[in-house]
Amino acid sequence: MAILITGGCGFIGAHTSVEMLNAGYDIVLFDNFSNSQPEVLRRIYEVTNENLQFYQLDMRDKERLEKVFMENRIDAVIHLAGLKAVGESIHLPLKYYDNNINGTVTLIEMMKKHNVKKLVFSSSATVYGLKAQVPISESSPLEATNPYGRSKLMVEEILRDLYISDNEWSIIPLRYFNPVGAHQSGRLGEYPNGTPNNLAPYITQVAAGKLREMSIFGNNYPTPDGTGIRDYLHVTDLALGHVKAIEKVMSGVTGVNAYNLGTGKGYSVLEMIQAFEQIIGKHIPYSIVDRRPGDVAICYADPTKAKAELGWEAQKGLEEMCMDAWRWQVNNPNGYESSFELERSWV
Ligand code: WQD
Repeated sequence: MAILITGGCGFIGAHTSVEMLNAGYDIVLFDNFSNSQPEVLRRIYEVTNENLQFYQLDMRDKERLEKVFMENRIDAVIHLAGLKAVGESIHLPLKYYDNNINGTVTLIEMMKKHNVKKLVFSSSATVYGLKAQVPISESSPLEATNPYGRSKLMVEEILRDLYISDNEWSIIPLRYFNPVGAHQSGRLGEYPNGTPNNLAPYITQVAAGKLREMSIFGNNYPTPDGTGIRDYLHVTDLALGHVKAIEKVMSGVTGVNAYNLGTGKGYSVLEMIQAFEQIIGKHIPYSIVDRRPGDVAICYADPTKAKAELGWEAQKGLEEMCMDAWRWQVNNPNGYESSFELERSWV
């Protein structure tokens, strides 16, 4: 039996695959490489020395998707495949709704057809919207403010309707706060296509001289230093949260039960820049620019439910997040550059 990880070559997918293999699970991955690289497969093997099954496919391709379920005995699914850039989603909403919603519906229809009814779903703290009071708990009001966040919220609603129609389903949406960092080996990390949208990879690329300076999106927020506060968590801690969630859905519980994956601590943009400067040992130039539309002032989790019910809490602190992110940047200045060609046997 095996666990299927969709989007298994992405930033979260690669780290989750490593921790699932380390926990002793057999895993099957698929990815369409729209925002990832085949080289990741080699790196996963390098850091775990474990084999896995891989399929290159888009989850909306029913014929190729069915092959995964026909050729493997899937126990449960960790569903990470999806588009995730907030800014891009505002310009290309239909692309996000087609990929994130139609793709997910195709996947869960195939799961149902093959009687696979255990699902861990990659959701996001963006489902809490602008009015959420910090620390944000799972019972906070849900309200998306952009097509990306709406696609995540809509999928959560679809999953709740699915469970109402069939009580055999066991579903855990995991609401990620801000994943940062990289595998401690320096061999897996965040490699965004083009200019990074997110803070941490932008900082490391400025520090590495790939980008000229940081733009801080506003310093007039109602926060101690005026810059935005977020709950940054190490990507390995996030990956381990998926291992705990799989344990939960495999335990026999049914229903739809969402969990925040965050540290419960918030750091401002200036505090993040200072933390990286401490690790890197050099000044990171920045300028203050206008606020970014859609940004909230403060967002950090109440992580107590995941600790109480999943037995999960973040272990790694800000220093380790920055150290691991910088090690990845230094060791992989151009991300996953490789001539590694995907052998035919893997498609
Ligand atoms: C963090 C802080 C910015 C870049 C988004 C998605 C969320 C999740 C994580 C997918 C904010 C500031 C950033 C920069 C800056 N992705 N910033 N200059 O917006 O909290 O969350 O990514 O699930 O869904 O919404 O993360 O890293 O973009 O921003 O000043 O160049 O850094 O204003 O305060 P965010 P972020």
